[in-house]
Amino acid sequence: MIDKEKLGNYPAITPKELEEAAAQAVRQTRAALVEFGEAFKGIYSEHNFYSKADNCQWTNGFWTGELWLAYELTGEEDFRRTALKHTESFRIRLEQEIETDTHDLGFLYTPSCVAAYKLTGDVKSRETALLAARKLASRFHEKGQFIQAWGSMEERENYRLIIDCLLNLPLLFWASEETGDPMYANIAKAHLDSALKVIVRSDFSTYHTYYFDPDTGQPLKGVTHQGYSAESVWARGQAWGVYGIALGYRYTGKKEYLPLFESVANYFLEHLPDNLIPYWDFTFSEGSLEPRDSSAAAIAACGFLEMADLLDSEKAMNYRKKAMCLMKALHDVCAVKEPSISNGQLLHGVYGRKTPYNDCIDHGIDECNLWGDYYYMEALVRLSKKWRPYW
Ligand code: GLY
Repeated sequence: MIDKEKLGNYPAITPKELEEAAAQAVRQTRAALVEFGEAFKGIYSEHNFYSKADNCQWTNGFWTGELWLAYELTGEEDFRRTALKHTESFRIRLEQEIETDTHDLGFLYTPSCVAAYKLTGDVKSRETALLAARKLASRFHEKGQFIQAWGSMEERENYRLIIDCLLNLPLLFWASEETGDPMYANIAKAHLDSALKVIVRSDFSTYHTYYFDPDTGQPLKGVTHQGYSAESVWARGQAWGVYGIALGYRYTGKKEYLPLFESVANYFLEHLPDNLIPYWDFTFSEGSLEPRDSSAAAIAACGFLEMADLLDSEKAMNYRKKAMCLMKALHDVCAVKEPSISNGQLLHGVYGRKTPYNDCIDHGIDECNLWGDYYYMEALVRLSKKWRPYW
């Protein structure tokens, strides 16, 4: 566990480092665009290099999102053209129902189609994102008041939510803003309340997933999918909580989310090792040989920056400073500095690590992953300019 004083003394990324980091991220995106053309990238790298992939994973929106971020930083037409081309593929994916039986529709359609609409006014992208929002809303269970994470809505064993879904809710809030129909936002608010009640433990650590009783809607139990064990604290899950609560506060204005954010965020910070790059689960601490998950730090940095934008006080400065310390650590330890090292942005992430107590497999260990790349770049953009969030 990192002591508070040490965190307070950790250096923040400097303006010069930030400028270099943003320029590097753009160079990486440019080089990858030449390599990938209009194709998508796989979920994670192998030996730090991504391969081409179809648009059929939960992660496809992130590469498109990186292209939009690079477009925002440079105004270069190549980024815009390819990102817009991707939105056509996202439309086909929805029409053909390719792996759309999931709450991940927010991760897929927000950084791709919502971003496209916000940045270019493309009406087809707006229409596609609204269709995705409708599909996401259809995953809401009245009994339990939550959005089901994965799979068929008919199977009793699927009756659960996961913390990651907090990042899918902005698609619903956006759909209500666009259409004037409160149904989407009402579902998002109900899910937010149900999720935060059960997944945040009394010490402000979090469960990854939580089951409900399909007959009564009563909360049943917390379980992990990608964390070390049911009762451990999956670092990325905690980071989804940090960013998700900040976004929840933005859309609802609920004052009770402010102390909750602070406590969940402090738990994250206080369990970082010395170099601020979290182990993949907070079961592990300084000196462990377990891999780190850089993507968790990038997500948390965006959460701090989001909350800083919503507050007008010393607290905002404090949250911004924390994000800048995380970004300094990511830039120094994990950022790809040139295309010969990797065709991603952020090294040292973990997608899934098998343990005797979880049900995932070993994959994407000590590799880049698409959300780590995307959120690292989002944080760079947030720090470089006044940014209108896609989320
Ligand atoms: N949302 C899935 C993950 O964070 O791996």
